[in-house]
Amino acid sequence: MQKSDAISTINRPLHLTHCAQPVTTTLTIIRPDDWHLHVRDGEALSSVIPHTAQRFARAIIMPNLAPPVTTTELASAYRQRIIRAIPPNMHFKPLMTLYLTDQTTPAEIKRAHNSGLIYACKLYPAGATTHSESGVTRIDAIYPALEAMQAHQLPLLVHGEVVDPDIDVFDREQVFIERILAPLHQRYPQLRIVFEHITTRAAVDFVLSCNDKLGATITPQHLLYNRNALFHGGLRPHFYCLPVLKRETHRQALLEAAISGNPKFFLGTDSAPHGKHQKESACGCAGIYSAHAGIEFYAEAFDAAGSLDKLETFASLNGARFYGLAVNTDTITLEKQDWTVPAEYPLGNSALVPLRAGDNVHWRCIT
Ligand code: DOR
Ligand code: ZN
Repeated sequence: MQKSDAISTINRPLHLTHCAQPVTTTLTIIRPDDWHLHVRDGEALSSVIPHTAQRFARAIIMPNLAPPVTTTELASAYRQRIIRAIPPNMHFKPLMTLYLTDQTTPAEIKRAHNSGLIYACKLYPAGATTHSESGVTRIDAIYPALEAMQAHQLPLLVHGEVVDPDIDVFDREQVFIERILAPLHQRYPQLRIVFEHITTRAAVDFVLSCNDKLGATITPQHLLYNRNALFHGGLRPHFYCLPVLKRETHRQALLEAAISGNPKFFLGTDSAPHGKHQKESACGCAGIYSAHAGIEFYAEAFDAAGSLDKLETFASLNGARFYGLAVNTDTITLEKQDWTVPAEYPLGNSALVPLRAGDNVHWRCIT
């Protein structure tokens, strides 16, 4: 029996190989990059970085440590700690970011730009998510920093949710677009903005309505799951992330955007490790760990949509082009074959529960 029906929809058969019995499907793409990643610090680094470095050439490293990475000096030291955690046989380039606060100065932005190590600055609305306490309390507080970023062409990465407790948690992204992001894009039309981890049809439509300076990342969990996953047979803390999973119509809108080939949409896993006990708690942390199958999950989503031929564009081309960086020159090969994700991975002295723990992933990265 043929196991390879997905390939009938592939436009670029050159990249796909069928081996002799047993039939397997493989897909070779330019090595991807992860444009949104949390790797934490200390002992955790060497637990999580090999997963990303096996698959991705580069990753945009989120600065929400405690205390946050607010200066070029802190980012440079953090970068060194990350580099020390890369296994000797792997090549991986961390692309550092700064955490914006109400106090971030244009001089700090200039230092960041001149360092050549900082690739973007992250806007966390204060109180929106993990370690966002030092984030921005009023958008006008960062206007001077944003003007400097626009001048130096340093992209702004946005956690796009309002924190107003009166707003329903499922509406926070849409209200953020109306109140903050649309006016911000109008005010700074030349500022490059990445609307991170979009989760709604409203976000897709907004991104499409903007000029080419505004793009968006999409996570694997928001392509593969809807909010039912949070409550499947009971409360499922390992499906809790921010922005929270939305209803199925939104997942479909995200999938359409991802497989469209539109250069505004690109890969950002938002893999966010937390200790098992921080997640399995009366007040569990937000974050889903996906780095162990960071490209494989996307292959699943694109395969299910009959669009494996669009994976390379989304995963390996669009992000690099948006950031004005060269596309990677080597490749990875994925094979369509089930493998079982372990129940846990180490996280420093603790353990984390990865996405799909104890269950199968349908694609495997073989090189
Ligand atoms: O789910 C999330 N986890 N969303 C975020 O915005 C932050 C992240 C984390 O750092 O754990
Ligand atoms: Zn994140």
